[in-house]
Amino acid sequence: MIPPERLNRRTSGWEPGRSLQRTQRLVVCTNGLPGRVPPGGLARVTFKPEFLARVTERRAELQRTLATLLPAPRAIVWEVGCGHGHFLVRYAQENPGKFCVGVDIILDRLVRSGKKRDRAQLGNCHFIRAEAREFFNALPAGVTFEEVWVLFPDPWPKARHNKNRLLKADFFNAIASRAGQGARFYFRTDHEEYFREVEGVVAGLGTWRRDPAAPWPLEQETVFQARAPRHFSLVAVRTPSPAPAVELIGPGQPPPAIPT
Ligand SMILES: C[S@@+](CC[C@H](N)C(=O)[O-])C[C@H]1O[C@@H](n2cnc3c(N)ncnc32)[C@H](O)[C@@H]1O
Repeated sequence: MIPPERLNRRTSGWEPGRSLQRTQRLVVCTNGLPGRVPPGGLARVTFKPEFLARVTERRAELQRTLATLLPAPRAIVWEVGCGHGHFLVRYAQENPGKFCVGVDIILDRLVRSGKKRDRAQLGNCHFIRAEAREFFNALPAGVTFEEVWVLFPDPWPKARHNKNRLLKADFFNAIASRAGQGARFYFRTDHEEYFREVEGVVAGLGTWRRDPAAPWPLEQETVFQARAPRHFSLVAVRTPSPAPAVELIGPGQPPPAIPT
């Protein structure tokens, strides 16, 4: 996802704060999760107190927003990185019985998405500014996924940025914890190497299995699909296997339960 050096005003709602060794006035957070220790062996990641305060407030605000939007248990269609909303607005329009929620970190794209939704007068389509993993962690209990869509996610093509990719085993296992048997995961990208990586990840999971025969329910070109010379698609189905407990943490972000 977006590393600290690429953040700018458009994404300033989701800020970097990893101060590491730059200051002595630090709060130390350790999450102790396997796979979270950087390759150099740094076991403790430190964050400035003011950054932790902002993150805490942002997450609390997101929790309040989602508690209002989803006051009772229900199944939702979640689009991660919805961009300009072309797909989700059309999907919600064609599926009035589904409750669709799109998230993105770029404000301008969400504003455009909301305008499309309003023009189509849809009550079952919502757009929220949030980092995907923070959105997941802030969901009220009882909210489940009937479908998760990820269309043309940032591919992070450089090897040293691979860790920023969203679609790793921990993401699939986390969404599996809120997805009943038969729930669907839809993925499309123009980046073949990312696609092959995700194929391999899904093949190694117990919680999802690829379904090559599953149809793609709606062909609606997105902004990034329109720019792509070709693309690759994958549909996976939630299996009955229980999901392991996983905490999702974005790169450069403190753990969900920030120590005080
Ligand atoms: C390459 S664009 C694709 C947008 C849209 N799905 C399409 O196909 O046109 C990736 C989108 O994901 C959003 N994004 C990137 N990292 C994200 C994250 N961690 N959480 C939520 N959205 C994210 C970006 O802001 C951007 O809009």
